[in-house]
Amino acid sequence: MGRDASAVMRRCEVLGSISDEPDRLTRPFASDAMRRAHEQVGAWMREAGMSQSRDNIGNLRGRYEGAGGATATLLLGSHLDSVRDAGRYDGPLGVLVAIAVVQGLHDRGIRLPYAVEVVAFADEEGLRYGTTYLGSKALAGTFDNADLDRTDAAGVTMAEAIRTFGGDPGRIAGDRWGGGDLLGYVEVHIEQGPVLEVRGVPVGVVSAIAGQSRYQMIFTGEAAHAGTTPMDLRKDALVAASVFVQSVADYADSQAGLVATVGQLAVQPGAANVVPGEVTLSLDIRHADDAVRIESAETLIDLASNIARHRGIALTAAGISENATVSSSPRLTSVLVQAVQDLGHPAVQLASGAGHDAVVMAGLTEIAMLFVRCKGGVSHNPAESVAEADVAVAIEVLDRFLELLAGES
Ligand code: GLV
Ligand code: MN
Ligand code: MN
Repeated sequence: MGRDASAVMRRCEVLGSISDEPDRLTRPFASDAMRRAHEQVGAWMREAGMSQSRDNIGNLRGRYEGAGGATATLLLGSHLDSVRDAGRYDGPLGVLVAIAVVQGLHDRGIRLPYAVEVVAFADEEGLRYGTTYLGSKALAGTFDNADLDRTDAAGVTMAEAIRTFGGDPGRIAGDRWGGGDLLGYVEVHIEQGPVLEVRGVPVGVVSAIAGQSRYQMIFTGEAAHAGTTPMDLRKDALVAASVFVQSVADYADSQAGLVATVGQLAVQPGAANVVPGEVTLSLDIRHADDAVRIESAETLIDLASNIARHRGIALTAAGISENATVSSSPRLTSVLVQAVQDLGHPAVQLASGAGHDAVVMAGLTEIAMLFVRCKGGVSHNPAESVAEADVAVAIEVLDRFLELLAGES
């Protein structure tokens, strides 16, 4: 049980119902829903013959030892946190396909010449604290302790959230990989875009992951009475922010390959009869060429400053995270291409516009990624959908990849 695609699909459904909100899937970092997801995924890891542990940041890790004398480890994984009102496959699919492949080894009594460790990362999306990749940063040894002081929407610091979840925020440095030689990190993930569907193939091999920058911007005007304050005497922070939101879309439209998004907007004080005094918004900017992304970020922040200045509004812009474009390992990618071809599929290679834990893991070891076709390219949406037959291909490809790697090591 657990190896076949139908079991993976069922498990995605089970995890899809483990949420902090009653009618939609929202599973933030270090949440109660994450605790319940860990109980379930931990049980599946043990069933697949893995020893299971959790580190301080809250990554769940399952280890399947190699044959006697094996010293190196191959890391597999993806994340268990979600966006708000998420689909069921972004993250969990990669974790569950990896567990399914290990289950297959366990069922057949196979030990590889290397250990396999499956990591279910704690936070890829950044929903709770705005910063992405908390789990992979801890494992790669690049976690920034300054992030521990960040607060969530309820005012809970990250340090407090980690403590409540059972970790020790003072010992995150100890989460860094310390298990000896690594062969690499391989992540299976839904594509989250339309390319594989258009090309008519079940899986694709990722060539690179586009860089991204995230900012938090605060427009500060003056809250005032909506009935008594004449239009020309207002300092309406939301009007300024709205002009900026439109400018972001217009600018991104005008630059080939650039995508820029304002996805969060918090209006204060937030009442029908009060002119908005303060708006906090998020800005997410991505481009496969780092130089274009960096220049675009500067241009957009200048634009925001100009819009704010003309309206007598103050502006602060703080960088929340920045990741350069990451290339996949040529060595691991060629093994993955071979595995796809061995199963009789064309090896389509594509770049990822979405961010993945593999971005951060590239700082620790070589990385490769396998994308699974998804319906209509829809993601970050409850309508996210993958076909069981495509999941079966992903399981077979990953299994073949492990076999080919065993032949090399
Ligand atoms: C993760 O899903 C991201 O690309 O934002
Ligand atoms: Mn996502
Ligand atoms: Mn993801």
